[in-house]
Amino acid sequence: MVIAIDGPGGVGKSTVSRAVADALGFAYLDTGSYYRAVTLATLEAGVAADEIPAVLEIARAADLDFIGRSMFLNGENVSDGVRTPEVTAAVSPISAIKVVRVLVVDRQREWVHRHDGRAVVEGRDIGTVVFPEAPVKVFLTADPAVRATRRSLDAEAAGMAVTEIARALERRDQIDSTRDVSPLVAADDAVGIDTTHLTVDEVVSIILSLAALAGEH
Ligand code: DC
Repeated sequence: MVIAIDGPGGVGKSTVSRAVADALGFAYLDTGSYYRAVTLATLEAGVAADEIPAVLEIARAADLDFIGRSMFLNGENVSDGVRTPEVTAAVSPISAIKVVRVLVVDRQREWVHRHDGRAVVEGRDIGTVVFPEAPVKVFLTADPAVRATRRSLDAEAAGMAVTEIARALERRDQIDSTRDVSPLVAADDAVGIDTTHLTVDEVVSIILSLAALAGEH
C-alpha cells in the first residue's frame, strides 16, 4: 500500500512521513530530494533552469536513488548537498520543467515498485500524479507563520531569520502552486489535515488510523 503525503514546505511532511513509515515498517521516499539532486547537478555543471535541453540531459544522465533516509546522486550521498540555500533557491524552477518531471516520476514509481509497493511517499504531486490510486492520501497544511517557525528549526535554515524563511517559503509556494505541470494541489480524495495546532504524534496517529481503515495494520 502506498501512503501519499503531500503539502507545501514547512508543514512537517518529512517528520510525519518517517514516523508513519517506522510505525508500519514501510519504506520512506522523499520525492523532493530527487528534484533537489537534479538541481544540484545543474548547479555543479553551471547550467541555468532556462537551458532546458541541457537540464534534461543532466537529469537523464543522473543516477538517482534514495536509500534509508539518504539521497544518492551518481553513487554519492548528497543528503547534505541537496539542502544548501543555493539548491533550495534554485529547485522550484527546475521542478517546474515537464520533461524533468516525467523522468523523475518514472524513477520514483520504479523505486516504490522495488520496495514491494509498501511505502510512505512524501511530495507535492503524489496523490494527484505519481500514485493517484494510493489508498491513503493526505494533504498537510499549516499557517504560514507556523511553517516558517518549524522550518527555522531545520539545519538547512540555520542562520536565517524567520521572516526571511517565510518569504522564501512563500516564493516557492507561488511557483509550486501555479506551475502548469503537476501543481501543488490537494487530490479530490485526499484527507486534508491542518497541522497548525497539532503535535507530530497527533498527525501520525490520524494517518495511522486512515491506514488501518484502508486495511493496513
Ligand atoms: O519537499 P522539498 O522542499 O524538498 O521539495 C523541493 C522542491 O521540489 C519543491 O520546491 C517543489 C519540488 N517538488 C515537486 O515539485 N514535486 C514533488 N513531488 C516534491 C518536490
